[in-house]
Amino acid sequence: MRLFEPFDLAGLQPPNRIVMAPMTRSRAINTVPDDLTALYYRQRAGAGLIVTEGSQISVEGRGYLFAPGIHSAEQVAGWRRVTEAVHEAGGRIFIQLGHVGRVSHRSLQHKRESPVSSVSRTAAGATAYAYDPSGAPAAVPVSRPRSLTTFEVARVKNDFLRAAESAVAAGFDGVELHGANGYLMEQFINGALNTRNDVYGGFRIANRLRFVLETIDEVSAAIGPSMTGIRLSPFGRLNSMAPFSDEEETWLALACELSSRRLAYVHLNDQWTLGHPNMTRDFRARFRKVYSGTLMMAGGFGKASAENALALGLADLIAFGSPFIANPDLVERLWRGYPLARVDHTTLYEGGPKGYTDYPAYQGTSPDLSATQLAS
Ligand SMILES: Cc1cc2nc3c(=O)[nH]c(=O)nc-3n(C[C@H](O)[C@H](O)[C@H](O)COP(=O)(O)O)c2cc1C
Repeated sequence: MRLFEPFDLAGLQPPNRIVMAPMTRSRAINTVPDDLTALYYRQRAGAGLIVTEGSQISVEGRGYLFAPGIHSAEQVAGWRRVTEAVHEAGGRIFIQLGHVGRVSHRSLQHKRESPVSSVSRTAAGATAYAYDPSGAPAAVPVSRPRSLTTFEVARVKNDFLRAAESAVAAGFDGVELHGANGYLMEQFINGALNTRNDVYGGFRIANRLRFVLETIDEVSAAIGPSMTGIRLSPFGRLNSMAPFSDEEETWLALACELSSRRLAYVHLNDQWTLGHPNMTRDFRARFRKVYSGTLMMAGGFGKASAENALALGLADLIAFGSPFIANPDLVERLWRGYPLARVDHTTLYEGGPKGYTDYPAYQGTSPDLSATQLAS
């Protein structure tokens, strides 16, 4: 079975093709990862690769209370405990570096300033996990952003660069830039939203891709392309991403550009488990054809569908999200056909160990036939 075959991931040697997808778990008190974070990831080190939860590159890039950052010395020290724990357990770990752009709220920003984006349009219907008017943590409608000046775009690219360097200092095997789910990078890519009239936006696809590509180039020049990956969600509608006329052309142009950069990987995320199906099978095949490097896919996979995608050559690695939450030993369970435990959705984002580090590894002995169904 290909899922359990080793893979050469830019010099790392994962023993299987199962990746733990990035998942925000909102447990970082004061945005600093701690021993509980280290335990959580250590328990899941059987994954071929772990990609951490989205971690903000700056205060400005923050959209969720209790999400960790990687822009202060304390955060870097906290992450070092995590990478050491995962490496000790024989695993490999990348950090997801993100800037939410307009999916934020003034109560999360320095001096309650407006969040920033490619343009000053509010993400209708989107929420941030911030402070409500009474000062209590809550999901609140996002604030109206202001548009970044051309000069400031250079500063944001530099924030990504510094976060990537901090990630290396913290012992990560690489970084995944968060170009998915309607956050800042996609706010530049999306042609319905990005109507800027400078070199970073407007009608021309090359302009809308410029921020993402320049950021990738700066990061990979600093830490190496083999330590740099990116996550995208083409045609995704999360966080108010509207359709636009040259949508497929835009994503394939990006695929072509990324292909020449010899990155660790490109990670495509389909949002259908979140109620926003995005990529057709034809589109995936076209993306695969244009992008010649390592391709990772995520979104609703079970064992059978993952095997199928690998067998069809649609992807090289498969990322599993929610199955890793309740099954720290997911790789072992899939391999042996053990049943999968179900996630308790009430503790996804609660503080503390409950629903975080207290899911046990499989303790039974005999494979359960219903597992085959659960895992497919
Ligand atoms: C609790 C939770 C938190 C998530 N947080 C992130 C995140 O921080 N960054 C990201 O790119 N995707 C995030 N996702 C999306 C997952 O990475 C994944 O793409 C999605 O869950 C679909 O895969 P699955 O069907 O295997 O769960 C999150 C998903 C879940 C369930």
